[in-house]
Amino acid sequence: MKDALALSCAALLLASGARAAPLTVGFSQIGAESGWRTANTESIKSEAAKRGVNLRFSDAQQKQENQIKALRSFVAQGVDVIAFSPVVETGWEPVLREIKQAGIPVILTDRAVAVSDPSLYATFIGSDFVEEGRRAGRWLAQKTGGRAVIAELVGTPGSAPAIDRKKGFEEILSANPGMKIVLSQSGDFTRAKGKEVMEAFLKSPEGRNITALFAHNDDMALGAIQAIEEAGLRPGKDIVIVSIDGVHDAFEAMVAGKLNCTVECNPLIGPQLFDLAAAIAAGKTVPRRVPVDEGVYDESQAAAALPNRHY
Ligand code: AHR
Repeated sequence: MKDALALSCAALLLASGARAAPLTVGFSQIGAESGWRTANTESIKSEAAKRGVNLRFSDAQQKQENQIKALRSFVAQGVDVIAFSPVVETGWEPVLREIKQAGIPVILTDRAVAVSDPSLYATFIGSDFVEEGRRAGRWLAQKTGGRAVIAELVGTPGSAPAIDRKKGFEEILSANPGMKIVLSQSGDFTRAKGKEVMEAFLKSPEGRNITALFAHNDDMALGAIQAIEEAGLRPGKDIVIVSIDGVHDAFEAMVAGKLNCTVECNPLIGPQLFDLAAAIAAGKTVPRRVPVDEGVYDESQAAAALPNRHY
């Protein structure tokens, strides 16, 4: 009797398009290189737990080969949906073709891929990195009256946010001839590397004239702030600093007057990700591109906004 009841419940669920078994999602994360990334991981893990999603999570430690291994192991495990945040833009076609052949839908989160066949993934949820770069550039142009000698801390080479943020920022510079990038190097999105590269910048001949810093993320800006202080300069005053992400530590640095502006890049995409995964697994059509809502915060707004920051 019990078995018959269970069977008819399952039949009803299937007929209504709902799933009888919990959804299994394989997620390959880039690593834990920044405060942003930690918040992103936490949002995905906690939302999966809340919804009863069976999450297979893998941390690639910022290596593409580790991500490719993880994706292949998700195929071998026969998960329902695969999601991943690709460390770099290129080199994904072969593994994406294997996944497609296995009939598993793919959701890209946070970073896009450069592929010739758009059917290799179902949707991409993430920020508009070019616009983030433009927002940083516009804010700096306004703050400096269009005159700045700029050092740039670039993100991971070959990654979508590093490529796109640079592009958006330079678009604004091309309309402001008094703003020039004189030094530009990767700090790999980490605080330690940001500090190391900024130390080298400040020791170089061009470094003596820097009036502004554009860091592709908050962690590199926070590392650079330490380097600037150790060099006997005042971050946020002698060198105007704009970065991207909007993590808690960046708001604290703005309240302390050491960082001038952060352009928000929202990592809390767990709920949207699992809405999409459930819809795709149920055979529904989803938009190809799902944007994330974001703002820009400067030092004048930092103290009021700080208590409401969730990452
Ligand atoms: O892809 C988003 C970027 O990756 C964030 O800006 C950065 O902090 C992270 O490491």
